[in-house]
Amino acid sequence: MENSPLIYPVPKAFADASNLTPDGYKSLYERSINDRDGFFAEQAKRIQWMTEPTHVGSWSFKSPVKIEWFRDGILNVTESCLDRHLETRGDKVAIIFEGDEPGESQTFTYRELHRHVCRFANVLKAQGAGKGDRITLYMPMIPEAAIAMLACARIGAVHSVVFGGFSPDALAGRIVDCDSHLVITADEGVRGGRIVPLKKNADAACEIAARNGVTVKTQLVVQRTGGDVAWQDGRDIWYHEAAAEASVDCPAEPMSAEDPLFILYTSGSTGQPKGVLHTCGGYLVWASMTHDYVFDLKEDDVYWCTADVGWVTGHTYIVYGPLANGATTLMFEGVPTYPDASRAWQVCDTHKVSLFYTAPTAIRALMREGDDPVKVTDRTSLRVLGTVGEPINPEAWEWYFNVVGDGRCPIIDTWWQTETGGAMIVPLPGTVDMKPGAGTFPMFGIEPELLDADGKVLEGATEGNLVITASWPGQMRTVYGDHERFEQTYFSTYPGNYFTGDGARRDADGTIWITGRVDDVINVSGHRMGTAEVEAALGSHPDVAESAVVGYPHDIKGQGIYAYVTTTAGTVETDELKRDLVRHVRAEIGPIASPDLIQFSDGLPKTRSGKIMRRILRKIAANDYDALGDTSTLAEPAVVDALIDGRMNR
Ligand code: WT7
Repeated sequence: MENSPLIYPVPKAFADASNLTPDGYKSLYERSINDRDGFFAEQAKRIQWMTEPTHVGSWSFKSPVKIEWFRDGILNVTESCLDRHLETRGDKVAIIFEGDEPGESQTFTYRELHRHVCRFANVLKAQGAGKGDRITLYMPMIPEAAIAMLACARIGAVHSVVFGGFSPDALAGRIVDCDSHLVITADEGVRGGRIVPLKKNADAACEIAARNGVTVKTQLVVQRTGGDVAWQDGRDIWYHEAAAEASVDCPAEPMSAEDPLFILYTSGSTGQPKGVLHTCGGYLVWASMTHDYVFDLKEDDVYWCTADVGWVTGHTYIVYGPLANGATTLMFEGVPTYPDASRAWQVCDTHKVSLFYTAPTAIRALMREGDDPVKVTDRTSLRVLGTVGEPINPEAWEWYFNVVGDGRCPIIDTWWQTETGGAMIVPLPGTVDMKPGAGTFPMFGIEPELLDADGKVLEGATEGNLVITASWPGQMRTVYGDHERFEQTYFSTYPGNYFTGDGARRDADGTIWITGRVDDVINVSGHRMGTAEVEAALGSHPDVAESAVVGYPHDIKGQGIYAYVTTTAGTVETDELKRDLVRHVRAEIGPIASPDLIQFSDGLPKTRSGKIMRRILRKIAANDYDALGDTSTLAEPAVVDALIDGRMNR
């Protein structure tokens, strides 16, 4: 992406009414860095404590890495998200549910949500679940997904939400990794007019998990469609039947600030997905604080984040952040292009959405449909437009700003990660002129630095590897069950720093531009996919001898998945085989891991020590043959020409 020369001043009407001014940001930021503990002690007052903490941050990024915030505080996050609002906001809408089909919507006030969560919590208790147990959720985007998450938190259980688009194999892997004996799912999901067989997938996952030593004792099934599903008596329970007998009174379990709140699996550059662990106190402070500042939150806002609860964006910015702040949060079951490309903006009009948060890939997909589907809607309720998940190209940024927001709404490009719990680098609305594509400035308490490959700190206008030098409350605490992997992944490359895995550029005025992953992680439609995982899936196909997977530029997805495949001797390399390989990867991981392009190749570029040179494969996949760099260290340089021929002929 080229550095855009464009600068968009904050729209005047917005700036006049925004919660923060440019000077307000600067002084608060300075305070947050110069007196970190004082600043976060104050921020901790945003949430409800049973016992207020006296400690603030205690952490070390040097081995043994240990991170704690507010460690002697006692709380239950659901009291902040529900109970404390009852008096002042009991009749305020907490959740607006917008179903897949237009017109199918439902609201829950804070009082109603509180009752639903308590009842769900009692159903979990009746199944023997309690503090510290891991509960896996495999749910569609229905209110019960949020209710189930909060119900887990209510009783001190640790939820692990698995995105409903993952395959039975992927789900089973996550159930086994955290030794989860209770699964919450739905009969079927509905998305874009299509049925997603969640219960069927969960049944298959339970079988696979059992073969791998973990027996799911209970499957709690929420009825969404009423479609036919298989049933295993003794294990499967309809939620609505169990709920009919459950009380709506459920005291909140007292939790230490550092007790786990949830696990969320995410892909890395090596091995299987890791269970990112977040804890109760620091995470909630961070979710609440960042949601408030990023969206310039006001009491009457209607807030809509289009993410799925299966990703961290859904955790922090559909459920925990907005509810902790007593906001109205919209949950959308469908996709922004169903039944047509106006849907997202119609939803905004119907529910008077003022804060809208989505991913660049969705913006590009909608932009492709032209301006008309946008222009037939009103959208005057919109106030702030956010984006997350991947770098946004200036064309998409400008379309979002000019066409969707009619030039009235600031665009807030939020850079963060599953690991960071919430937004880290962002142009806070009203505080800074906007540069399309720039993450801009750090959030309060965040100290980013750019390092060269040797770990030398780079000053001024420069480009390098992005690290964060000091802890913040929303930081992940460990990889579930594997603290060594946590240290190794994030703290060994640049000892003493948290390494993000991203590269970034910095202007002379300090503006930060995220340039993308510098490791073997592909960002497909704002979702992270490890090349090693896709390679492992391909490698389990009988016709595959070896494969190498890289990302390449893709118009809509940002990056697509490009697979170089060497087949076993005697295999006939047909288009049918390519389709079969795609089917195979979808079955192993899920549709989001589907290779977009497959190239059969007799050999892969390797060093003499046998290491695949991905740098070269990335260039060839991008049709960028001039800058292949030094190929002299390759064991067989001729391989490269064959690969280029193959790429050009496809
Ligand atoms: C990776 C994290 C944060 C929730 C969604 C993704 C990329 C994320 C941006 C942005 C440029 C971004 C980074 C990061 N990323 N937001 N605004 N601009 N890149 O969470 O799956 O943990 O992925 O997404 O590469 O490392 P995730």
